[in-house]
Formats: sequence, structure tokens, C-alpha cells
Amino acid sequence: MAKNKDKKYAKKLDEMAQRHLWMHFSRMGTYSKNKAIPIIARGEGSYVWDIHGKQYLDGLSGLFTAQLGHGRADLADAAAAQAKTLEYWPIWTYAHPTAIELAAKLAELAPGNLNRVFFTSGGSEAVESALKLARQYHRLRGDGQRYKVIARKLSYHGTTMGALTVTGLSAYKNIFEPLVPGSHHVGNTNRYRHPLGDDEKAFMLSITDEIEEAIIWEGPENVAAVFLEPVQNAGGCFTPPEGYFQRVREICDKYGVLFISDEVICAFGRLGTWFGAERFDYLPDMITCAKGITSGYAPLGAVICGDHIAEPFLEGNNSFLHGLTFAGHPVSCAVALANLAAMENEDILGHVQRNEAGFRERLESLRDIPIVGDVRGRGYFYGIELVRDQQTKETFTDAEAEDLLRGFLSPALYDAGLICRSDDRGDPVVQLAPPLICGDKELDFIEATMRTVLTEAWRRFGLAGAAA
Ligand SMILES: Cc1ncc(COP(=O)(O)O)c(C=O)c1O
Repeated sequence: MAKNKDKKYAKKLDEMAQRHLWMHFSRMGTYSKNKAIPIIARGEGSYVWDIHGKQYLDGLSGLFTAQLGHGRADLADAAAAQAKTLEYWPIWTYAHPTAIELAAKLAELAPGNLNRVFFTSGGSEAVESALKLARQYHRLRGDGQRYKVIARKLSYHGTTMGALTVTGLSAYKNIFEPLVPGSHHVGNTNRYRHPLGDDEKAFMLSITDEIEEAIIWEGPENVAAVFLEPVQNAGGCFTPPEGYFQRVREICDKYGVLFISDEVICAFGRLGTWFGAERFDYLPDMITCAKGITSGYAPLGAVICGDHIAEPFLEGNNSFLHGLTFAGHPVSCAVALANLAAMENEDILGHVQRNEAGFRERLESLRDIPIVGDVRGRGYFYGIELVRDQQTKETFTDAEAEDLLRGFLSPALYDAGLICRSDDRGDPVVQLAPPLICGDKELDFIEATMRTVLTEAWRRFGLAGAAA
């Protein structure tokens, strides 16, 4: 009887979702009576359960967010306690205790002189705010009309109009043009597909030269900032060559351009350090972050700024003419404080560092499946690029990639109980970014499931499959 009631409820939810819910970045028209929307109803630790009670390993931390995993009472309790004390207060004109404490905590954890925190409600707002901050910073210093931004091809920096301008994915941008004027996109750190990719130094010099050339081409007096992720997500976890960020720092200093490290994914332990800048040993002028700051128990984002960035805003009657009602929400800040405390108490960064090599080895072991072209990433953040031919690195046509990723891999991995991302914003990749609490059992499951599904993918879509 109870089972029937559950089944009825699941069906009703699917009907309501199909009728009323506008899902983000989703082909809603592909769902139908015969193809239900996946509905995740509950989570605990590294696992989630759908509305029918089926268990999945959350191999993507929701959306690169659930650092500490699901269902933690301490984080829920922190939210409830704060809501009972002061459920809401803005940080316009006023301050409130949890925003102050969290700003101080972030300043303690962030590298160098990054001591001033501007809160937002999420990642796009953090990038949008950093863009406006950069513009007003230059104006306040009387440094001309600097407004242009340099970012990398294929990079994703969010969806609001300013953040979308920074984003380097033309397919996401074209339909919304004209955007905010003034973006220039340079080569990313995809060494697998770069002609100099096997020569670390030459590769590094070539792609940093591109940044300098872009600044000169746009006119240094017009360029406000360079936006880079420590490990670029879109395209499939592109890691930087040795010395890359150090040279970017030098170039930015040479031309008075701000260097913004977009760490919406890479901060809070994802790479085994508090911040990606720490992992690759560089000091940006600002860090944008969100997602893992609360492990997803409440929405929050932030721009963490160097003292020198805040300085002109502290003079006379100056103020940053920008604000957001829900930014620095007391409940979100309380959750973030509890989240960061738990990460410290449970040595989550140490856990990721100790397990990184093992995770990588497991994924590297999949290279014996001919469809696996490249395995790349750091920490708990990896991409596996799929190819038709390992030797020539030949990739799939758009139509084949569509069939491979959406037609086969996504449903096959989901059916096998592994939630991860199959992505074709560049060449086809499968991405993994599990909760930072995952250990041997979960990493073994990822390896075994990937092996089964990728082997079948090769049989169907590889050279042999195509020839058959
Ligand atoms: C690097 C980066 N910047 C910005 C964003 C946008 O963040 P949000 O989706 O919270 O607006 C994302 C989202 O994935 C991201 O990965």
C-alpha cells in the first residue's frame, strides 16, 4: 500500500515537473510520458537517492558543490540556529555578526593580502561583481577607461550578462548578443590538443604570450582584468603548465591589468588546498568563489580582494556602487562558518591530498580502454577525454559526440548508479568531482563503473564498433 502511494507520488512529481518546473540548461522538450525527469529526493554522505529509492554515488558533488557530502546535521543545525537568531539582515549600510566573522575567516584562509570580502549570492554574481569592481577600481584611481577583459576559450564564468561576457563559450553567448562590450578570448591550457603540449616550457610561453599579445592588441589602457580558473572546468579539467600563473602575474603587473582567479569550483578543498591560487603558488588581485564555501547547504558567493583593491574605495566618500539583497545572508554565512570549521576539524584538505594520487591512478588505469584519450585534473577534480583513436587523438564528429554522450554515456552511467558529467562543450569528456569525503570504497566504485561503461562505449562507438 505504502509502495503504491510512493509510486503515485513519484508519478505526480514527474507530471508537475514536466508541466511547471523550468530546469536550467536542460532540453525540457526531450522529457515525456515515457521519459521521466530524474528526481533526486534525499542524500547522505557521498550518496543520493532518487524519488524511487534508487541509490547513486554523487560523482559531481551536486554541481561541484557538496564538499562535505549530503545530510549533515551539524550544517543544518547551524542554519536553523542562525535563522532563529537573525533570519535575515542586509549588508547594505549595516553589518551582522556572521558576515563579519566569515569575512575575517576567509581573509585568514586566503593567500597574501587578500583580506577584504565582498559577498554575493553565488558564482555568476561573484564574477559580475569582480568585473564591476575592476572597472570602478580603475576609475577611482584615474586610470582611464579600462573596461576590457581577457579570458580563455571554452571557459565558463557564469550566465549573467557581465559574467557571460567573460565566458569563452560562443554557443552560450551568441543568442544573447550584444553582451557587455570588450572581451577577448585566448588559448586555454589544453596541452593534449596543443602542438607544443609535450614541451612544458614552450607550451607555457606560447599561451602566456597570447595573453600579452591580447593586452597589447586591445590597448593596455583599455584592459581592466584577466579572468582565469586555476584548473579550467569547461573543456574538461585543463591544468596549467609549470610557471603559467607566475608569468601571467608578471604580464598583468607590467600592463597594470588586474588578475582575477575564478575559483568558483577550485576553492575550498577541490584541489586539496583552500584556494587554487595556493595549489599553484600565485597571488591574484581578487578571487571569486561560491559553491563549496557552504558545501551547498545554503547559497553564497564572494569576491575576496587584495588590500590594494579595497584601498581607493576606503577614501573619502567613495563606495562600491553595487549590492545584492541576499548577498552575505546570515544563514548562508553561519553555514559557511560551520562548513569551514568542519573542514578544518576533519582535515578534509589532508584527506584529499592523501587520496589524490590513488584517485588519479584509478582513472589512469582506464587508459587501456581505447576510447580513453586523456586523463587530467588535480585533487578531486578530473576529466577523461574520449577519442575515436588513441594514437591519432582523432575525436568524434558532432553527431557522434551527441550519440555517445547524450544517447549512451549519460543514461548508462546514471543507470549504473554514478552521477557525473558527460560534456561536449569542447571535445567529449566525462568529468568527476566527488564529495571531498570520498574514500577507497567510493573511488573503487567510480573506477569499476567507468570501466564497464567506457568499455561498452568503445564497443559501440569506437573504431571497431564503427567498422562492425
Ligand atoms: C568558474 C566558474 N565561475 C562562475 C560560475 C557561475 O556560478 P553560479 O552557477 O553559482 O552562478 C561557475 C559555475 O559553475 C564556474 O564554474
